[in-house]
Order: sequence, then C-alpha cells, then structure tokens
Amino acid sequence: MKVLVTGVAGYIGSVLTNKLLDKGFEVIGIDNLLYGGESLLSIYNHPNFKFYKKDIRNIETIVSLLNEIDAVIHLAAIVGDPACAKQPQLAISTNLDGSINLLKAANNSYSVKNFIFASTCSNYGKMEGNSYVTEESPLKPVSLYAELKVKFEEIMLDGEYHKNFCPTALRFATAYGISPRMRFDLTVNEFTKDAALGRELTIFGEQFWRPYCNVEDIANACILVLESEPDKVYKNVFNVGDTRENYQKKMLAEELKKLIPDLKIKYVKKDEDPRDYKVSFEKIKNVLGFQITKTVPQGMEEIIRVIKDNIISDPDNSRYSNI
Ligand SMILES: NC(=O)c1ccc[n+]([C@@H]2O[C@H](COP(=O)([O-])OP(=O)(O)OC[C@H]3O[C@@H](n4cnc5c(N)ncnc54)[C@H](O)[C@@H]3O)[C@@H](O)[C@H]2O)c1
Repeated sequence: MKVLVTGVAGYIGSVLTNKLLDKGFEVIGIDNLLYGGESLLSIYNHPNFKFYKKDIRNIETIVSLLNEIDAVIHLAAIVGDPACAKQPQLAISTNLDGSINLLKAANNSYSVKNFIFASTCSNYGKMEGNSYVTEESPLKPVSLYAELKVKFEEIMLDGEYHKNFCPTALRFATAYGISPRMRFDLTVNEFTKDAALGRELTIFGEQFWRPYCNVEDIANACILVLESEPDKVYKNVFNVGDTRENYQKKMLAEELKKLIPDLKIKYVKKDEDPRDYKVSFEKIKNVLGFQITKTVPQGMEEIIRVIKDNIISDPDNSRYSNI
C-alpha cells in the first residue's frame, strides 16, 4: 500500500512515517520544510521512502504524485494558535485553501481510497459545565487555527466523491513525547523540559482541563484508520486519545513533582480560559478498537531522560517551537 503523507518532516509526520515504513507501507512524503528536514535523515535512503520538497499551496506540483497512491494522510499545516495568529493569510492559504485543493486532487486521482485529515480537539473550545465533550458536541473554535480546522472538516465531510473514496477526520488530543522533529511548545513537553532543566514551573490557570496523547499513539491511530473497514471510517470523525488521559494543568505539575521531587511550582491565578475541555475517547475505542500504549507520566519520564542525557544540546532553541 502506497501512502502520501503531507507534513512528513513534522513532529507527528516523522514519527508516523517511521511506523508506516516499519509496517511495510511505501511512503511518498511531502513537506516545504518550515522547520528543516533533519527529522528525515534516518529514513531518507529507505527503499520504500521518497521525499519531495513541495508546498501544498502549489497543488499543480503535487497532482502527478497522487497517481497510484492508495491513501493520503494530510498533516501539513501552520500548527497551533500562536503560529496561525501571527501569519493569518499564510494559515488560511495553507490550512484551508491548500487542504481543499489537496482533497479535490486526491479524489480526482481515483486511486486514492483513504483521505485522513489531522484535525484537533481544540475544535471544542470550552465544555458545558464539567461534562466530557464527544464527537457529537457543538464545535466552538476560539482561534483562527481551530476555525480553519472546523471549516475544512465541514467541507470534507459534506463533499461528494468517487465511490471508493473514504475521508476521515481525526481530532487529535494535544500531543506529547519524543519525535525526530522535537517540539517543546506543547504543554507536557514544555513543562517536562523546564522541570528537567531544574527551572521553577510557572503555571497559568492550573484548573483548566485538556486531553493529551503520545505522538506514537496518534501515529498508531492514523494507521488503524488505514487498516479499518471503509464503512467504519467513511465520512466519520474520531477523537484520538484516551478518556483517562484528560489532565488539569495542576495534575501535570503533580505528576512531574513525583518524578522530580525538588521541583518548584508557582501557580498564577487565571479565571478564564476559552479552551477548557475534557474529551471522551470512547468512540475510537469502541468502533475501531483503539488503545493507547503510553500515558503522560511515561512520556514525561522519556523526556526527562532525553534532556538529562543531553540528547538535545540546546532544547530552548526556537527550532523546537512553532511559536
Ligand atoms: N501536535 C499536536 O498536538 C496536534 C494536535 C492536534 C492536531 N494536530 C495536527 O497534526 C498535524 C501535524 O502537527 P505537528 O505537531 O506535526 O506540526 P508540525 O508543525 O511539527 O508539522 C507540520 C509540518 O507541515 C509542514 N508544512 C507547513 N506548511 C506546509 C505547506 N504549505 N506545504 C507543505 N508542508 C507544509 C511543516 O514544514 C511541518 O513539517 C497538523 O495538521 C496539526 O494541526 C497536531
């Protein structure tokens, strides 16, 4: 099976591609290398991997690559609220216009069966009261980043396609964990890095909830969709994570304190956060049999080791951040 992965050099794309190759898939990877391409060095010469430096905003340069592709996993985007707020036109042309053109081209190629879109639990904005949001809950995006994800999801799920085309939206929990393209602007990774470097943690709004999922498990969920029966995933939406892995920020700090007992934590009161949600991940478990393999405390342990072993010489470098 031949899979085209957009955003292949990114935090999730580089982990996913390693897994796809390990499982015997052929991978065509495209990326415009906003954060460099070093994440691809270890697979660059793999016989089943081919990289093309392409920008999804120039769809005409990508169309020919879609011949004989069985599935597209669409990760390329301007990622995160701050990055989209900083360059709104770039975010719109990439995350919305670029995605629409890619979707059309994938459908027009006729060989593509699965089209998996990387969406986000940020789409939910704020939960009602204290109840878990599900795939059926209203979407209340509070940033351009989430607005564009919601818009593209709607367009994708409403579209008309050739009869074997199967689009699926995956709403990922906030990712954490180790990747060839490390990101330290993600909450768990950032807190853990700072704690491992002996810094005091300053936590704004410790009461707010968010779900987290290891980057490896996010990659596993993408592959699970590829391997699922089309009628289970056709025009369907799944939250990706595990219901037990919803944490308040103070719970993250407490988990870190167990691993680094002399950690100092300063809580700064914040009464409002437009993003405060606990998410149910029962659907992906019940419909597709998805199980996570790692928990947040296990991910924290791994990151502490990476930092303490000096595997990353300058973890504060801006290359490890999308902000
Ligand atoms: N990391 C998370 O916590 C998280 C959570 C929910 C959803 N997602 C989604 O998952 C996907 C991957 O996220 P990530 O964390 O790996 O981000 P990332 O920023 O590490 O990776 C995105 C990749 O897309 C590439 N890219 C950007 N614009 C492009 C363009 N015009 N053409 C080609 N390539 C382009 C970048 O160079 C980068 O390598 C994104 O769609 C993101 O919205 C991520």
